[in-house]
Amino acid sequence: MESFGIDALALAVPRSFLEVTDLAVARGVAPSKFVEGLGMGRIAIASADEDPVTLAADAARRLLATPGVDKESIGLVIVGTETAVDHSKPIAAYLHGLLGLPSRCRVYETKHACFGGTAGLLTALDWLASGSGRGRAALVICTDIARYTLGTPGEPTQGAGAVAMLVKASPRLLALEPGVSGSFARDVADFWRPLDRKDAIVDGALSVRCYLDALGGAYATWAEETRKASGNPDDLARRCYHVPYGKMAKKAHQHLSELRGLDAAAAEETFQREVKPSLRFSAEVGNVYTGSLYFALASLLDAEAGELEGKRVGLFSYGSGSCAEFFAGTVEPGAGAFVRMLDLGAPLRDRTRLGIEAYEAIRRADAQVDTRDAATPSAIDANRVAFLGVDGGRRVYQ
Ligand code: CAA
Repeated sequence: MESFGIDALALAVPRSFLEVTDLAVARGVAPSKFVEGLGMGRIAIASADEDPVTLAADAARRLLATPGVDKESIGLVIVGTETAVDHSKPIAAYLHGLLGLPSRCRVYETKHACFGGTAGLLTALDWLASGSGRGRAALVICTDIARYTLGTPGEPTQGAGAVAMLVKASPRLLALEPGVSGSFARDVADFWRPLDRKDAIVDGALSVRCYLDALGGAYATWAEETRKASGNPDDLARRCYHVPYGKMAKKAHQHLSELRGLDAAAAEETFQREVKPSLRFSAEVGNVYTGSLYFALASLLDAEAGELEGKRVGLFSYGSGSCAEFFAGTVEPGAGAFVRMLDLGAPLRDRTRLGIEAYEAIRRADAQVDTRDAATPSAIDANRVAFLGVDGGRRVYQ
């Protein structure tokens, strides 16, 4: 039987980061609260010439440079984001131009808070499995800049980045299971961002409860669907959760373990084995909203793809508001060697550490970033896609 899933993936992050310990000192908070209490390490900070389009383009450029990835085979581009740059023109249209993709291509953006990327991935999977792809591949990109108002509890959980995934038949990394998934939706006011704001508004404690309720609901449906498909919901070797901050993944695993009838000791023991390897990248980058689950998957594959070949991985995606989905995939034979070649963590190295003043200056300038006059291209690093500003109201990219 033909398989469909994630063939290759690539990450992009802004070139600067802030240590959460520096932020803690500046905010008069014990550093251990951000590090142990929230499970954070570094948060990626986007500069004025970096936006969700440039991050997506950088991840996609890296993906398209992967051996065996054929740009001409792409017939569907879906960009999941909750920090779009325009109310009408999708990031996918900018990417189509920046990447020089075929004109016979459906390109659009999906939004449902952090769930938007998963909506794109599962739609791409259905497009392939239904035969509509007609032998072509889908490019699914999750890109976001997570911003909370300075000094609020969400501030240490900010982050930014993008994940680009090639989704196709006979994938080299992870075969997904079309039709076998558990969704859960409920209208809640846990986290949102009104049209006139760049910073999200969040009811933190409620958001944690909503996430856990959604996990329970989505998992129960997935387990039922898995049994109907003659599968075993207990055969997951690893579990990747949406990671708004590292501690949330731990809370998620504890909650799921409890629902599965495991005691606290078993929850801790399985957390170390089944979840921890997926949390390294997010501790370096922070919340990437739509991309967070896929940074977790990338982190897991980077650490363990070789030993996971042939094994099943569970994936949980949560979008505030809310919609969630639990689904699973099997790591493909040969994934270990392929992932070593991909060097997924490369973009996280070679970044610049910001001081608190520089970070706050970037954040203060956020409000003007989208309306500034386009800069001269010569001022910009030629190795990255850059947002130069606007010219006649149009966004200009180099
Ligand atoms: N040393 C070690 N730990 C410490 C500490 C110290 N000195 N001081 C406090 N802590 C611990 C607390 O005990 C607590 O641990 P537990 O959660 O295990 O009880 C933890 O640090 C957090 O402390 P608080 O309970 O005081 O919480 P807070 O006011 O710092 O807020 C938050 C935490 C609600 C997550 C906040 O960061 C926030 O609003 N974040 C944004 C919203 C969010 O990420 N929600 C997650 C679910 S919604 C979602 O997933 C969608 C999305 O991407 C946004």
